[in-house]
Amino acid sequence: MAACRNVTRMVHCGQIVSPWGLQIKRAASLSHAWCRSIASDFASRTPTANTVELLGKPYISDSYSNITKKILSKVGKNLHNRKHHPLWLIKERVKDHFYKQYIGRFGTPLFSVYDDLPPVVTVEQNFDSLLIPQDHPSRKKGDNYYLNQTHMLRAHTSAHQWDLMHSGLDAFLVVGDVYRRDQIDGTHYPVFHQMEGVRLFSNHELFNNVSGGESFCLFEQGHRTPHKQEMHTMEAAKLLEYSLKLALTKLVAHLFGDGLEIRWVDCYFPFTHPSFEMEINFQGEWMEVLGCGVMEQQLVNSAGAENKIGWAFGLGLERLAMILYGIPDIRLFWSEDARFLKQFHVPHVNQKIQFKPFSKYPPVINDISFWLPSDKYSENDFYDLVRTIGGDIVEKVELIDEYTHPETKRVSHCYQITYRHLERTLTQKEVSNIHHTIEQSVVQELGVEGRF
Ligand code: DAH
Repeated sequence: MAACRNVTRMVHCGQIVSPWGLQIKRAASLSHAWCRSIASDFASRTPTANTVELLGKPYISDSYSNITKKILSKVGKNLHNRKHHPLWLIKERVKDHFYKQYIGRFGTPLFSVYDDLPPVVTVEQNFDSLLIPQDHPSRKKGDNYYLNQTHMLRAHTSAHQWDLMHSGLDAFLVVGDVYRRDQIDGTHYPVFHQMEGVRLFSNHELFNNVSGGESFCLFEQGHRTPHKQEMHTMEAAKLLEYSLKLALTKLVAHLFGDGLEIRWVDCYFPFTHPSFEMEINFQGEWMEVLGCGVMEQQLVNSAGAENKIGWAFGLGLERLAMILYGIPDIRLFWSEDARFLKQFHVPHVNQKIQFKPFSKYPPVINDISFWLPSDKYSENDFYDLVRTIGGDIVEKVELIDEYTHPETKRVSHCYQITYRHLERTLTQKEVSNIHHTIEQSVVQELGVEGRF
């Protein structure tokens, strides 16, 4: 146990500031087999061997490489393609909705769906293609998993927008696993799943689509549906915004049923303007479930669709599934436990499911505190290390105390680590072993001075 006494209390806020500069509670997921191999796993993040092989391709490591073995082991799991998995169910429900709602000229679905694009993308695809500036904070090594300076695990499915538009597509959905270095708690996991949607229109198509007999009754509360006559005079950008909000309102109404309360929050993304987040009222709390906006014309033009305008959105599948099915902890998505998986074996994807939690096993809580190194220290490095060593038995890591020594000005952090296995009771001995290994590694790998 760490020495946490005599230190000042710090309030640690569960919310994070998203890389785009807005407050987002991000959805993630969680994994079953807790990691048994210990310090050597973490060591893999420092590129000793100078190539990493991923999905059959070698990547030469450099000073950017920071992918742990734990993360590598998630690549290719494709939970969203696993039949009857809750993430698969959500994907199928959204697909179903889009296929039925949007029919192309020949009676075929308008949207095409891509759910097996490899998660390794270039830094250019993930950032540059989306007009994200070179010095934008979302590019930080501390927030992403880089294979090297040129390649990374996608941080969002938006990384595929440009290529798909460039290949001539006007309407598509992309579903996939995305990777971000992050804090550890019940709603954050370094691998989670997103669905991207893009729709491009000619001016003519836009007007016909929006005014063409669609039902407007589902529109956000407090917003009046524009009359057909009014639409004639609306600017294309306003019409696009309207079309986007309508499409997404219908989607969540399809998923959650009528009576759902939603609200739109203005926000900022480099690739859309205007940009919004949709929040839904879940048991009295507003939860952000998606980001969206009218696509920046420069982006559309650069992908070769100069004569088109469009909108795009990105939604977090875990977040939706947690709300929709009442799944209490993001790690459960990675569970192989039949008591979890069986509950989603339903004959129809639209069948209502309310997850029945199986008994919660007791947690074991240990603290760790250390003096930070005088040079750079990143909290995400610490979280990665804890996740790599502790695996999915780590339920939560919380910074509970921060202390600055009045004379030396050195800073000490104290974190509380909650260990809990989802499927059995942990013994204090096995937790102590893991906790001790974390203590050793944190000193070795991050250069901190332990106060153990
Ligand atoms: N890529 C954003 C994220 O991960 C979500 C997003 C926002 C996607 C706006 C979009 C969009 O396509 O237009 O936070």
